[in-house]
Amino acid sequence: MSSFVVKGGNRLEGEIDVQGAKNDVLPILAATILNGGKNVIHNCPDLRDVNITIEVLKNLGCSVTKQGRILFVDSSDINGYTIPDTLMRQMRSSIIFLGAIISKFKKAVVSMPGGCEIGNRPIDLHLKALKQLGVKISESHGYINCEVDKLEGGNIHLDFPSVGATENIMLAACMAEGITTVTNAAREPEIVDLECFLNRMGAKISGSGSDVIKIEGVKRLYGVEHTIIPDRIAAATYLSCAAITGGQLILRHVNSGHMDAMTAVLKEMGCKIYDERNRIIISSPKGKLKNVKRIVTMPYPGFPTDIQSPFMSLSSISDGTSVFVENIFENRFQHVEELVRMGADIKVDGRIAVVQGVNKLSSARVVAKDLRGGAALIVAALSAEGVTTVENAKYIDRGYECIERYLSMCGVNIKREE
Ligand code: UD1
Repeated sequence: MSSFVVKGGNRLEGEIDVQGAKNDVLPILAATILNGGKNVIHNCPDLRDVNITIEVLKNLGCSVTKQGRILFVDSSDINGYTIPDTLMRQMRSSIIFLGAIISKFKKAVVSMPGGCEIGNRPIDLHLKALKQLGVKISESHGYINCEVDKLEGGNIHLDFPSVGATENIMLAACMAEGITTVTNAAREPEIVDLECFLNRMGAKISGSGSDVIKIEGVKRLYGVEHTIIPDRIAAATYLSCAAITGGQLILRHVNSGHMDAMTAVLKEMGCKIYDERNRIIISSPKGKLKNVKRIVTMPYPGFPTDIQSPFMSLSSISDGTSVFVENIFENRFQHVEELVRMGADIKVDGRIAVVQGVNKLSSARVVAKDLRGGAALIVAALSAEGVTTVENAKYIDRGYECIERYLSMCGVNIKREE
């Protein structure tokens, strides 16, 4: 089991090239099975979740090879429609394959994704939507069995703009008969890029980025070449690392248009942000950060739940009281206990956390319990006095490519310990 060992106190100074987005590459890799062709995907981050997705693709019969950040996926010999329990348990978001498999084979068998570290994470919206496309679904022995004679387009209203459910509908409906209209669809940049990828393959989808997506079914799709968009959450995590150390950072290969909700908060905390289209420069105050009155997590374009925990680390040493309201996942405050161990003053009541800024954090042995909560502990450790050990590096590796290398290059004292 590996850990990160961080000696706090160094200012972060330098430049980081932002990795490709984890939440973009996963649905796009799932989409490659639809075309039965050769696909070249550029800018794939080297992450544990991407490696698990590659295993799922291989398990279904695809050939996948990697050349640095380029993935070659050939889905011409795909023959499987089952995702076994072992793979499903490693990555809950494998559920994103369901829509693509059912479209390709008219049947799909996937293991029921269990609860996970950040909450219950039901899949009722995914299943309800597939039923509306004509899929018959039954559950037995921990597996979900799906079957359909012919997928037929229709009107689907999502009770909540779920990212995964919107993506599953797009994957299932792009070769269905007729037109599918999704209302209250998720509007995340990753949905827009999935539309772009599917349309490049020959699909006829419009409206992504708004809350109504129209999908006109087509008969065939073709293998394509595509580049994964920059990871806005990894980018904001590195901005947090700069902010908490009073540092200066140039982020390259970023889409600043995707970052507004996060950079607005950093400005409120006293950081200077200069953004160009593909670059963001942050210059943080030498003294204390200001508190931020209220951070409320919301679907895009609101403040992302994924960056709530790293920003809580910032507010824990800010000047005053900050309030966080977590609206998306019910169990996304698991980092709080660990931040308190480092000297933070945080009180949680249900979905609300009240953070009273303290003068400084102190080092401790802390445990990452989920991906973004783990990243928050690294952010906190950068400012803490002494040496902090963050156990369970495996969670952080799910979403950050070589985080210790990027941070070390910017003057931070961090290493991985097995
Ligand atoms: C995706 C992201 C994740 C991010 C989240 C919210 C990927 C791989 N993961 O997760 O990093 O934190 O969006 O921005 O892209 N819900 C239901 N029923 C469902 C589906 C969802 O009740 O069938 C609820 C969830 O419990 C949660 C909310 O809807 O409370 C949002 O979930 P969703 O948008 O689906 O998140 P994911 O796609 O799982």
